[in-house]
Amino acid sequence: MKVLLVGSGGREHALAWRLVQNPLVELWSSPGSPALARLGEVAKVPVDDLDGLKKLASQIEPDLTVVGPELPLVLGLADQLREMDLPVFGPSKKAARVEGSKIFAKDFMVRHNLPTAGYAVFDDESEAENYLKASAYPVVLKADGLAAGKGVVVAGNYATASRALKTLLAGAGAKLIVEEYLAGEELSCFALCDGKNFLSLIPAQDHKTIYDCDRGPNTGGMGAYAPAPLGGALLTKLVEDNIFKPAVEGLSVEGTPFTGLLYAGLMVGMNGPKLLEFNARFGDPETQALMPLLESDLADLLLAAATGNLKGKEIRWSGKASVCVVVSAEGYPGEYRKGDEIKGIDRANAREDVVVFEAGVGVKGDVPITNGGRVLGVTATGDNLKEAVKKAYQACGDISFQGMHYRKDIGEKGALKEYSI
Ligand code: AMP
Ligand code: GLY
Repeated sequence: MKVLLVGSGGREHALAWRLVQNPLVELWSSPGSPALARLGEVAKVPVDDLDGLKKLASQIEPDLTVVGPELPLVLGLADQLREMDLPVFGPSKKAARVEGSKIFAKDFMVRHNLPTAGYAVFDDESEAENYLKASAYPVVLKADGLAAGKGVVVAGNYATASRALKTLLAGAGAKLIVEEYLAGEELSCFALCDGKNFLSLIPAQDHKTIYDCDRGPNTGGMGAYAPAPLGGALLTKLVEDNIFKPAVEGLSVEGTPFTGLLYAGLMVGMNGPKLLEFNARFGDPETQALMPLLESDLADLLLAAATGNLKGKEIRWSGKASVCVVVSAEGYPGEYRKGDEIKGIDRANAREDVVVFEAGVGVKGDVPITNGGRVLGVTATGDNLKEAVKKAYQACGDISFQGMHYRKDIGEKGALKEYSI
């Protein structure tokens, strides 16, 4: 079974690591990474070069293509590969609007009665300004398109909101959402979708800010754990019935069936889970935490989703807990250092129940060097979260490079709940 994996980050390393545990899988990835090159063949076509990726796919003739990041999906890679009769795990350009356009996503949520924060849309600065003057604070301002996590400002007062408005509405045709602030705790829920049916995965919790105790600027994600005790059986059922089921049906009814991974970013508060956002692909770094717990064959599940055959499939998990601690480069999420030698990856990997997923690692000769803002995802499993956290941090202690940073509190919130629930 030839599998073409599009992407190069820690999420893709985790997917590839799990995919090749099936001995029938012959892996190709593009643009790949040194870690992916150890697991299969690598081509160097960038994720936004759709023509290049189509050409690559016509050479390889993969039995399955798995698209990691959102950009190629939003550009329409899945549509183009399907036109070539190739099975793809990833939504069409239209279905990917649930992530690609925040306004489309909010309107869709309202059309299908999905629980979410109240909102208003603006393209005119003075109208938005008047609205902000009359608002109760905090409010949340969001740019419409893909913004790599940088298009959202939580404003505690009018002055901050007014300043953010000017940046977010800059540029021709820019649109802005002003949204009601939701209090609570964030949770990431996931569903494999085949256009009609879905199968939910275990919930995870991400850590968005760069520093401990949720301080500092937002990043792509500084660590994750799974399963998140916050998302127990009752909540999971609520999310399936009130979010995934109507969302999958709604996308199908509107003529844009969703095939791939539907990621629901939730705020869980006093009034139950509410949708902050959808993503149209696997979470990063949540996937790094999930893959070591997955017992079912990943290739089989993704192929079933890609070919409309999820109905009746089951998914088995190990019953253990997992934590991924992201190790980042100095300066991230701003300008960051690159090219520093990384020591200790092998030592960490040699530990029992530990795997180091590589997100931003290059090579110089045969020495691994830093080559991205998020460098590594040091992942460990344990019988419970507390144990997994301990093992992950022991493994982080094996690793060193100039300017290395990681949060020291990944999984703490979950480990505390483990005992109270
Ligand atoms: P998003 O890209 O929509 O997930 O927003 C990025 C981050 O902003 C989320 O992970 C939340 O921490 C925060 N956020 C977004 N929307 C809201 C909201 N309505 N209320 C409170 N926090 C929010
Ligand atoms: N972990 C957040 C995301 O993948 O968008």
